[in-house]
Amino acid sequence: METALRALLAGTPQIRPADSLAPFAKPDCFDPQLQAFLEEVSARLCAWFATASNRGPLPALSALPDVAPSTHGLSVDELLDDLQLVMEGAYQPSHPGALAHLDPPPLTASIAADLICAGLNNNLLAEELSPSLSLLERQMCRWFVERFGLPSTAGGVAASGGSLSNLMAMVVARQQADLQHDPRAVVLASVDAHMSLAKAVRVMGLAADALQVVPVDRDGCIEIDALAHRLKALKAEGRPCFAVVATAGTTARGAVDPLRTIAELCARERIWLHVDAAIGGVFALAATTASVVEGIAQADSITVNPQKVLGITKTSSLLLVANQGHLAAAFSTGLPYMEPAWGEAHGSEIGLQGTRPAEVLKLWFGLRQLGELGIKRLLEGALQRRCYLQRQLDASRFTILTGPLHLIACTPRNIDAAQAEAWSVATRQRLLEQQLMVSRPLHQGRHFLKVVLGNPHTQLTHLDQLATLLNQSLLEFS
Ligand SMILES: Cc1ncc(COP(=O)(O)O)c(C=O)c1O
Repeated sequence: METALRALLAGTPQIRPADSLAPFAKPDCFDPQLQAFLEEVSARLCAWFATASNRGPLPALSALPDVAPSTHGLSVDELLDDLQLVMEGAYQPSHPGALAHLDPPPLTASIAADLICAGLNNNLLAEELSPSLSLLERQMCRWFVERFGLPSTAGGVAASGGSLSNLMAMVVARQQADLQHDPRAVVLASVDAHMSLAKAVRVMGLAADALQVVPVDRDGCIEIDALAHRLKALKAEGRPCFAVVATAGTTARGAVDPLRTIAELCARERIWLHVDAAIGGVFALAATTASVVEGIAQADSITVNPQKVLGITKTSSLLLVANQGHLAAAFSTGLPYMEPAWGEAHGSEIGLQGTRPAEVLKLWFGLRQLGELGIKRLLEGALQRRCYLQRQLDASRFTILTGPLHLIACTPRNIDAAQAEAWSVATRQRLLEQQLMVSRPLHQGRHFLKVVLGNPHTQLTHLDQLATLLNQSLLEFS
């Protein structure tokens, strides 16, 4: 028994022959095999990027390697072959024609930070598991709240995606309204608000009609009179409302609700204002683009997703709150198995997630790589591409949906919903054959083709080609 235990503890598990990759990095000497492995993996990734233009954004369906682990584990060559197969079947956001979704090419510094993040394997659960990274996250949130113009009491926490940031915001808002135990509590948002809010109210155990939607105007912005009217009606019905959610960048068209007016209404009614700025929030980071989210500083909480236009690798989302103390009030339970936090609070005490990776590393490193000028250039470039494409589209024959951001959607005028669906299927396919990928959302009962212009590789020639094909498609369906 003791001999077997001694043999087991004698070293890291030696699963493969001595010349192959050790399963864990050696803690006492430099490991050239590990270095060679990481270099080869990096080389394959670089080759994947280098061939992006030849392949198109959407690969043909590819074969997958075996999923189950083999008995003895794979050699380095076998591992690399498996990895290559999966990479061959991956969506390629770096293709200049990748214009369908809010998933831009990844920043190179962010890629490196993701690798380091995995290597460090720290845990934002508690400070002693991530000393420098917990501090970095706090400081990064502070930088964001300053840029957004939030008060000095403000702070934030990183979350694995905007849906989670929105859910946390709703939990905090409900707690501040002291409505945790009232399943009749209501949230108001526009009809174009993101469906993560519907999920949030569902998991919060609220009534089926807890998310009440308000119509939007011709520009896709929440109708203020309808919002005020709905608030009044809720009062009359005795239904408590714990939050109004304004959207700064709707998923359908990039519309931004009138934030300042909504903030004034919420202040008058003493209702929490959450701004879902998952798409539009980053535009506040550059002075030249900040006007598109004017009034955002008056929010009680904000969701912002740097994983979208800025190209921070997924996932990267922040929940910012005007009063940092509200996060702990909602989420702190005490962590009796940890040393007390030496900073403000353990990461898991100010958010819903427990164990989580240090996603802040790729956000911080990516922003440091871009610099102020790089951030500005990315944001302005996205807006300029949208304006350019908009000018090329035949507005007399398309219904065009857009807003102040980098999204635009269109569908032919004068055809019915079934024809619009047929048009969208056929045209998307034709565009894909030209390596231009757009999305095909169903919006207000009709199919549109939507273009998201956050890809910095997209040139005006690509947009000319796209506009020509879209305008030509009208000939068949008019
Ligand atoms: C406006 C808006 N809010 C929230 C989300 C949810 O973000 P995530 O997909 O990171 O959960 C999205 C996603 O696109 C969005 O567009």
